[in-house]
Amino acid sequence: MRILIHEDYEKLSKWVAYYIAGKINKANPTPDKPYVLGLPTGSSPIGTYREIIKLYKEGKVSFKNVVTFNMDEYVGIPENHPESYHFFMWHNLFSHIDILKENVNILNGNAADLEKECHEYEERIKKAGGIDLFLGGIGQDGHIAFNEPGSSLASRTRIKTLTYDTVFANSRFFDNDVDKVPKTALTVGVATVMDAKKVVIIINGYKKARALQKIVEEGVNHMWTVSMLQLHERGMIVCDEEATMEMKVGTVKYFKNIEHKTLNKLPKLK
Ligand code: GLP
Repeated sequence: MRILIHEDYEKLSKWVAYYIAGKINKANPTPDKPYVLGLPTGSSPIGTYREIIKLYKEGKVSFKNVVTFNMDEYVGIPENHPESYHFFMWHNLFSHIDILKENVNILNGNAADLEKECHEYEERIKKAGGIDLFLGGIGQDGHIAFNEPGSSLASRTRIKTLTYDTVFANSRFFDNDVDKVPKTALTVGVATVMDAKKVVIIINGYKKARALQKIVEEGVNHMWTVSMLQLHERGMIVCDEEATMEMKVGTVKYFKNIEHKTLNKLPKLK
């Protein structure tokens, strides 16, 4: 697993945006062979989305032949609710780029049959040829998508009950009122993410430092579900200095040293 430690969130965000744009351009996608991206919500990817929009506006990347699959969605809040992940994605990314509406896939947390919705989502991913690059963030407890601690590391798209930690953390978006936060969500499974050809996880800020220490310096563990990335062939964590505060000085120095060339320049766009 590669660990790229950037000085700060701005640098990290720009680097990830260039990395993704470069991969899309390199694949030279067509309507028959689109590039398939897995995408997260949350505050972690916002800087990356901002930089991607900039690259699109400068004509350096197009999403015409990109298909996206989002990680998760709350159950039971309307799509146009400002905190729904549908709203988040259109507001923070999709409305500003040339992606086709029919190429956007987000779980429907209001489906009449939620289990069927989850099952069909997995089928849709398969039909699209699998995910080329899954971008993710993590919760403070090391969860990926909504795969809370104790989730099966072989899990697939399903309904999950959110832990109090997650409900509490997300209450900042719901007037700081835990009662307003949905208590269940639909989420891709750990295995759904791990099936992607590449997985890139953004981890920034001191709040995530404990999780980063666990997933880098300790073993694969279902209590820190993103630690499964250790078993992925092309797993990459892109973090900032703040998030490394709980890791050993030696670990931080080691990864900075082996990645110093990568860290000193932006990924090629072509
Ligand atoms: C939610 C989402 C995760 C996301 C996490 C962290 O739990 N389901 O996909 O990674 O929030 O959010 P943030 O980036 O705001 O810290």
